[in-house]
Amino acid sequence: MERLVIEGGQPLSGSIRVHGSKNAALPILAAVTMADGEVVIKNVPNLDDVLVMLDILRSLGARVSYYKGELVVDPRTISTTDVPEHLMRLMRSSIFMMGPLLTRFGSVRVSKPGGCSIGSRPIDFHLKGLAALGAEIDERHGFIECTTTRLKGTSVFLDFPSVGATENVMMAAVLADGETVIGNAAREPEIRDLAAFLNTLGAKISGAGEDTIVISGVSSLKGGEFSVSPDRVVAGTLLIAAAITGGQVQLENVKANDLTAVIMKLRECGVQVIGTRDILEARRIGSLKAVERIQTAPFPGFPTDLQAPFMSLLTLAHGTSVISETVFEDRFQHVSELQRMGALIKVDLRTAFVKGVRELTGAAVQATDLRAGAALVLAGLAAQGSTIIDRVYHIDRGYETLEVQLRNLGAHIERVRPGKAQGDVSVSQAT
Ligand code: EPZ
Repeated sequence: MERLVIEGGQPLSGSIRVHGSKNAALPILAAVTMADGEVVIKNVPNLDDVLVMLDILRSLGARVSYYKGELVVDPRTISTTDVPEHLMRLMRSSIFMMGPLLTRFGSVRVSKPGGCSIGSRPIDFHLKGLAALGAEIDERHGFIECTTTRLKGTSVFLDFPSVGATENVMMAAVLADGETVIGNAAREPEIRDLAAFLNTLGAKISGAGEDTIVISGVSSLKGGEFSVSPDRVVAGTLLIAAAITGGQVQLENVKANDLTAVIMKLRECGVQVIGTRDILEARRIGSLKAVERIQTAPFPGFPTDLQAPFMSLLTLAHGTSVISETVFEDRFQHVSELQRMGALIKVDLRTAFVKGVRELTGAAVQATDLRAGAALVLAGLAAQGSTIIDRVYHIDRGYETLEVQLRNLGAHIERVRPGKAQGDVSVSQAT
C-alpha cells in the first residue's frame, strides 16, 4: 500500500492554482445523464472519486472521454439505469445518480450506500424528497428501486439542510411536471455550481445558494459546456498548510467568499490572510493563538470538511481551543493519530479540547478518511522529524496528488510505492 513520507519543519512558500471542486464535480457528473446532447465539462479534478463516477457513466452506456481535466460525455447512448453495485460500494456519492436517472428515464436501481468512518450517513432525506415528487420506492435485499411515469412538482421541506438531499431533489425536479419548491435547502457553493450547470442546459432553477430553491420543470435539457468552480476545501487545506509551517502561500483561482468562516478563524489564530475575489494569501505572523470555539455547521458556517485540518493547526496554538463537530456523528478519527505525534487532545462526545504544544514529533500514522488524512499531512509538515502516512488512498479521493502540490511549495514529502521494505523508510522518531 502506498505511503506518504514527510520530513517536517520546512516553511511553505510560493503560489499554486487550486484544482476543480470534487463536491461540485460529482453531482454535476450525475446530472450529465439528464442531457439530450453532448456535454463538455472543464476543470474536472483528476480524483479517484471522479474516476469512479466516470466508470458509472460508462457502465450505464454513456460515451465518456476525459483528458487533462476536460470531460466530454454523450449521454444519449445510455441504455440502463441499473447502477452496478461494486461501483456504488466504492463511493457513497453515487447516490447522486438517483434523481437524474429517475426523472430522465423513469427508473433507477442502486444498492444502498454503506456508511463510512465519519458516520452512518443515512439517505432518508433523499428518499423522502423523491417520494414527495411521486417516485415509487422499493427497498429490499440491500437495493433501492425507484420508478415513475413522470415526477410531479411539489413542495419539499428538508428536515436538515442536507447537501446531497438538496442536490438529488433539485436534479429530480428539473424534468418534473410543474414547479418544485425546496425549503430548508443547503446553501453550500456546490449547490450554486450544480444549478448553474443545469441552467446552462436549459433548466429553470432560481434561489440556489439560498435556503429556498424554486425549480420550474422543463420537458428536456440540451447539451452544453460548463467549467467547475475551484475546490474550497482544498483551498482551505493549503491556507492551513502555510499557517502550520510558518510559511507564506498564495492561492490562485479561488473564490474567497466561499471561505469566509475559515479565513475568520485563521485570523483569530494570528494568521495574516489577504486577498481579492479570486486570490488569497496566508502568512504566519509570530506564534499561533488558540481559538475560543469552532463549531462546524452547514454553509456559511465553519465547514465540517475543514474541521480535521484546522485541528492540526490548533495542536500548535498557545492555549486551549474547543472544537464542536455538529454535522457528522463520528468525525474525530484523526484525534488518536494526532496524539501519536504528541498532540494534547481530549474528546467528549462531539467536542474536542485541543491544548497547544510546543512541537509535534514525526510518527507512523494512518489516514482513516479523506479529511483526517489531510490533517495528518499538515501535522507531518510541521512535526520535528519524519512522518509516515499509510492508507493514502483516502487522501487521493479528494486531493489531486497532494504531495506534488506541497512539494511545489517547498515541502519535503514523497509518495513511497508498495514493495519498499518497511526498513527503507526511516522514521527518525521511534514510534
Ligand atoms: C456532502 O456530503 C459532502 N460530500 C461532504 O464532503 C460534506 O462533509 C457534507 O456534504 C457536509 O457539508 C459531497 O458533496 C460529495 P449531508 P453529504 O447530506 O451530502 C445527515 C468530503 O470530505 N443526513 O449534508 O452526504 C448526514 O448523516 C465529504 O468531501 C441524514 O441524516 O452530507 C450528516 O450527519 C465528506 N439523512 C448530515 O445529514 C440524509 O438523507 C449532513 O449530511 C442525508 C444526510
